[in-house]
Amino acid sequence: MKIAVTSASGQLGSSIVKHLIQAIGKEQVVAIARSTDKAKHFGVDVRKGDYNSREDFDLALKGIDTVLLVSGMDDPQKRIIQHRNVIEAAKSNGVKKIVYTSIVGDEKNNAFSPIVQTNRQTEKDIKNSGLQWVIGRNGIYIEPDLEYIETYVKEGEIRNCAGDGKCAYTSREELGYAYSKMLKEDKHNSQTYNLVGHAITQSELADSINEVFKTNLVFQSVSVERYAEERKAALGDFMGTIIAGIYEGIKTGANHVSSDFEKAAGRPHISTIAMIKAFKS
Ligand SMILES: NC(=O)c1ccc[n+]([C@@H]2O[C@H](COP(=O)([O-])OP(=O)(O)OC[C@H]3O[C@@H](n4cnc5c(N)ncnc54)[C@H](OP(=O)(O)O)[C@@H]3O)[C@@H](O)[C@H]2O)c1
Repeated sequence: MKIAVTSASGQLGSSIVKHLIQAIGKEQVVAIARSTDKAKHFGVDVRKGDYNSREDFDLALKGIDTVLLVSGMDDPQKRIIQHRNVIEAAKSNGVKKIVYTSIVGDEKNNAFSPIVQTNRQTEKDIKNSGLQWVIGRNGIYIEPDLEYIETYVKEGEIRNCAGDGKCAYTSREELGYAYSKMLKEDKHNSQTYNLVGHAITQSELADSINEVFKTNLVFQSVSVERYAEERKAALGDFMGTIIAGIYEGIKTGANHVSSDFEKAAGRPHISTIAMIKAFKS
């Protein structure tokens, strides 16, 4: 059996490849990457795959039984077409099963919704493909917050517009483990899983970071409008709008979802403190 992972050069793709190698061995894993050089270190069969190129995937998916499609990073509307390149190439190559990394979130109501809609469209395309399928809706990664700790410490606070909203975070490491199971085991076929850990508020996130990093962060709640202005000034219109939309979604409960992680992974999701400790070490 051959299992291929797209965007294997990225952080999520890498985690999935790593866990998959542990689960089934190097001979059965194929790493597909736009930049193949960045995937050579795995020591597995590496093939070229740019989401913009159907031809790349017609070649990359030869002899593959199961493919994991990591959602792309492009503008929302472009992503749908890019994902279809992989789905169509999978169909024409006789791939049997496709696993997709989608996202938790609200399809309407905030500035992140266009991205969620794109992911939902790809979910539909996958369900209509005729292939066996599994969909994981990933929670927000905790790592970007932890990579940002120095800035939080400088500013003395975690500042955003999430208010008292709870967010069920996850980590790329936890996701990599869950996806390796979803790829390998047929019992997950036709399931859509929320891949998240425990839901916490931003104040609880600050407390957990303080516990592990011995910092003194507090959460500063600001209005959606003000936060959007601040983020756009710092990150530009496109990313600033998306980031503000994510926190607006948290405020309104879009990320306070129940977890299917244990069903997917066969063990509970690790705690917030454990994710932060794992990152620190
Ligand atoms: N849940 C969350 O909190 C969250 C946060 C951010 C993003 N996401 C989503 O999760 C996905 C994976 O996240 P990540 O952490 O692995 O991101 P990452 O580390 O930034 O990696 C992005 C990957 O996408 C690849 N890529 C970009 N454009 C491509 C194209 N046209 N064709 C093929 N590959 C392409 C990159 O390839 P190169 O190495 O060639 O650049 C890289 O491997 C993202 O793409 C995004 O859809 C989720």
